[in-house]
Formats: sequence, structure tokens, C-alpha cells
Amino acid sequence: MGTASAHTRCSGSFDSDGLAASAQDDKRGAADGVRDDGRCRTASAQGDTCAPAVAFEHVTKRFGDAVAVNDVDLNIEEGAFVTIIGSSGCGKTTLLKMVNALVMPDEGEVLVHGQATSSVDPIELRRTVGYAIQGSVLFPHLSVEQNIAYVPTLLNKRDRRRTEAAVTKWMDIIGLPRDIMDRYPAELSGGQAQRVGIARALAASPDILLADEPFSAVDAITRGSLQDEIKRIHRQTGITVLFVTHDIDEALDLGDKVLVMEAGRAVQFAPPCEILRSPATEFVDRLVTRKQSVYAR
Ligand SMILES: Nc1ncnc2c1ncn2[C@@H]1O[C@H](COP(=O)(O)OP(=O)(O)OP(=O)(O)O)[C@@H](O)[C@H]1O
Ligand SMILES: [Mg+2]
Repeated sequence: MGTASAHTRCSGSFDSDGLAASAQDDKRGAADGVRDDGRCRTASAQGDTCAPAVAFEHVTKRFGDAVAVNDVDLNIEEGAFVTIIGSSGCGKTTLLKMVNALVMPDEGEVLVHGQATSSVDPIELRRTVGYAIQGSVLFPHLSVEQNIAYVPTLLNKRDRRRTEAAVTKWMDIIGLPRDIMDRYPAELSGGQAQRVGIARALAASPDILLADEPFSAVDAITRGSLQDEIKRIHRQTGITVLFVTHDIDEALDLGDKVLVMEAGRAVQFAPPCEILRSPATEFVDRLVTRKQSVYAR
């Protein structure tokens, strides 16, 4: 267990995963979920520094009198895989929604690639930030194929074959049978709908993936293989992942950093080994009790 993949990607390249870039690809790269170069989006003129993929600067969000997120102040480096865990209602979804401007902070700023969400076009922002929503909300009037193709169609206007290739590629990766392609969301099982939501988020080639309990509606075996897939996708693409889970094993296994939230506060943000070795609060201690011996093996 370590922090090996919590790295800053300022240069270098990675595989295009079998789909060559076409001339009209936008500068973010092809709309097939695999960027063509791993260069930092926010490298300075000197080319030596990266802004964090996401920075929460003393962020507070209230709903009426209730404080959903309370003075969260932390940086998420490009290419990190951050798992977020905490009790129900502690502010995890609200925190994610502030990254793609679905929720705006009352105090503080959220910066995505160095730019405050309050100062950018939210539609543009959401093209670079994929969101696999809690409970998987698909467009009910669109088929599985049309749901997954939604953003690639916008980006690959003149290249339908590229969009079709992206759809089938992501269906295969996420383990969706091709014969459900023409079905509508109401005709899917909960687990299938959830996976279509993940494929849709990834097919848009996001730089950042927000995944809100993405594997909660699948059985244990499928969950294990989806965990392996998301690790592989993360390794191959250098995408930054913020992944909410209620499962401490999933949080420790997937994350190169784990964010523990308690009543709106970020009480610990550290690599799994540190969470296990030095729990910052009694809550974190209770969360990892009996895990130390398992992970020490
Ligand atoms: N739109 C809203 N209006 C009013 N209160 C809200 C709204 N969204 C969230 N809240 C409240 O803010 C707090 C944090 O909610 P949030 O959805 O972020 O929790 P969560 O950690 O994701 O919980 P869960 O694990 O159950 O998904 C909760 O008390 C919730 O009731
Ligand atoms: Mg939630």
C-alpha cells in the first residue's frame, strides 16, 4: 500500500488505447476517454509547475441553518485517485457537486485546474469533469447507446464512427453486454444503469472523474472487477478521480489518498497507510479498527 500513483503529471505521454486521434479533435484530446498526451493543463510558461487538479480553499456550504461542508481546505494533485468516506449526510456529495459547479460554495473557492468555478462557464467546466451520479441518473428518453454517446457526439461532430467506437469500447470495458445498447434506462437493472452512468461519464474524455458511490448497486464479484477496471483506467489515462464510497476496504484499496469527512469537515486527508497507522480522530479510528492487521499482511 502506498502513494505510488498519487503523482503530478506535468509531462510524458500514454497510450491512445487503440483509437487514433483525428484532426478535428479538440485540444483536450479525443472524445474516447483517453487523452492523447499527459501534459499538465495548467503548466506555467516555464513548464515546470502544475496547479492542483482541484483545490478547495476554505470552502463552506450551508443549506439553511445546516452546514453541509465546513471550511474544507485541501489540494488534489493531477492524476491522484482520492477516495472519500464518511457517514451518511456528512457532505460527500455536496463536496463533489462543488467541483462541477452544480453547487456553489457560500464561502471560499473551488478551483479546477487553477480556475475558480465561480469564474468559468459551467457547461465548459462539465465537459472536462465527468460525473457518475449517486443513483445513476440517465436520460430516460435516450437509449443506452445514446446516453453513452451524448458528449462524444457533441465533441466529434463530423466523426460518427469515432463516437460509435467510443461507445462500444466503454461498454466493453465497463462490462455491459452489447445487446442492451438499444434499451432505455427503465429497461435496465440497477447495476446495469449504474454502469451505463460510469461509461457515459468516461466516454466524455474527462480530465477529472467524480464518482459518487458508483459501485453501490452491483454484486460483490462485479464490484471487484469494476474496481480493477477503474484502477486500470486511472493508470492508463492519468485522469484525476474523486471517488465516494461507504466501504472502507474500497476506500483503502483504490485511493492513493483517502479523505475522511465528519459532519462537513475534512478530518483526515492522507495515504491509506497513514490513515491506518495514525487515525486523526476517534471516528477515523473506529473506521479502521481491525483493518490494520488485515492490511499489514
Ligand atoms: N439541496 C439540498 N437542500 C437542503 N439540504 C441539503 C441539500 N443537499 C444536501 N443537503 C444536506 O446537506 C447535508 C450533506 O448532504 P450530502 O448529500 O452531501 O451528504 P452525503 O455525505 O453525500 O450523504 P450520503 O452518504 O447519504 O449520500 C445533509 O444534511 C443533507 O441533508
Ligand atoms: Mg451522497
